[in-house]
Amino acid sequence: MNVVVGVTGGIAAYKAVGVIRSLVLAGHDVHVVATDAALRFVGRPTLEAISRNPVHTDLYEGVAQVRHVAIGQAADLIIVAPATANTIAKIAFGLADDLLGNTILASTAPLVLAPAMHTEMWQNPATTHNIAVLRERGVVIVGPASGQLTGSDSGPGRMVEPEAIVEAALAARGPRDLVGKRIVVTAGGTREAIDPVRYIGNRSSGRQGVAIAAAAATRGADVTLIAANLEVAPPASVVLTRVSSARELADATFAAAATAHVVIMAAAVADYRPEAVAEGKIKKETQGDRLTIELVRNPDILQTLSENRRDGQVIVGFAAETEEDPGALLELGRRKLARKGSDFLVINRVGWDAGFGTGENSVVTLNRAGDIVMEASGPKASVADRILDLLS
Ligand code: CTP
Repeated sequence: MNVVVGVTGGIAAYKAVGVIRSLVLAGHDVHVVATDAALRFVGRPTLEAISRNPVHTDLYEGVAQVRHVAIGQAADLIIVAPATANTIAKIAFGLADDLLGNTILASTAPLVLAPAMHTEMWQNPATTHNIAVLRERGVVIVGPASGQLTGSDSGPGRMVEPEAIVEAALAARGPRDLVGKRIVVTAGGTREAIDPVRYIGNRSSGRQGVAIAAAAATRGADVTLIAANLEVAPPASVVLTRVSSARELADATFAAAATAHVVIMAAAVADYRPEAVAEGKIKKETQGDRLTIELVRNPDILQTLSENRRDGQVIVGFAAETEEDPGALLELGRRKLARKGSDFLVINRVGWDAGFGTGENSVVTLNRAGDIVMEASGPKASVADRILDLLS
């Protein structure tokens, strides 16, 4: 795993060496980003020797490689140890006046801070507020411990021991249980052209599929995301193929599925498309008061994937249903599963107010035998993790 260790200017910087060392010994690729103040407490040669990589400090070095964002984008995990009150304040406000600030802002990786400061600074309302803001954003704060501080004083403010920081940081990173797995995820909703300016579409935003792709990449999988008209940004950590119509989605998915361990069909695929696409814009002048568009069936991608699955390949389908009665919803799901032949079917209720376009989802998952193997409700990111737990 690519771990960035940010070292800032406090006496506890000497203990950062222990954090770096135990990450390196555990097999991680460690890149140190030190502030100028940190290098007053611990020498660059020490940090370079222990991390086995050059130490980065200067925002204006390596500008051609866009280093100020490259280090953050490549990170799987960022640990700042020690994190001074000043650095904590800067991170809380999103300041980027040095390389570490830029690195943190440019990263989507989990961020773990190990504060170290005098008790008064730790208990100052400004620091308390900044810590609360960061915790709310999902930043993991490890410590500080209570004990002897640099001077004769003692109290909360000591940086916790390196081993405990590493342990908390790796836990924050979550499982890496999908390393070596190739996973194809389809997301979004297809559009079927009527004429050059109009299409038949659906209300899928792609949020659930994108959340699955992002979570799978975080857990170490090689992810191909086949994206049909997403309303949300795709994660940077996946191979992206953009498509629009059901037939484009089919071609891209079959090609990617040829080498995939898992295919997850979260996209909302149009079942029908206009039989003929008008060359020019359809005009009222020629159509009059009625317009009839003849639709023909699109290929069923999920069914074809299931019929042609390779040995050991796992195929996951979704079922978007408007049925409100839970028993009838399950029954519809079981019939769909039997038709499609996938290994799992994730059923979610959709409607005017549910499923599409929202940040939350509520799903019931069936296995091939039609048994309920998982039920989850909540943010789409946590539903994504529950689906991946099942596959893992
Ligand atoms: N699907 C597909 N190809 C299609 C239609 C759907 O691969 N032409 C996939 C979807 O990606 C989803 C699953 O099949 O994983 C079920 O989609 P859904 O729209 O719920 O079901 P349909 O097959 O379209 O059946 P119906 O609309 O009649 O409920």
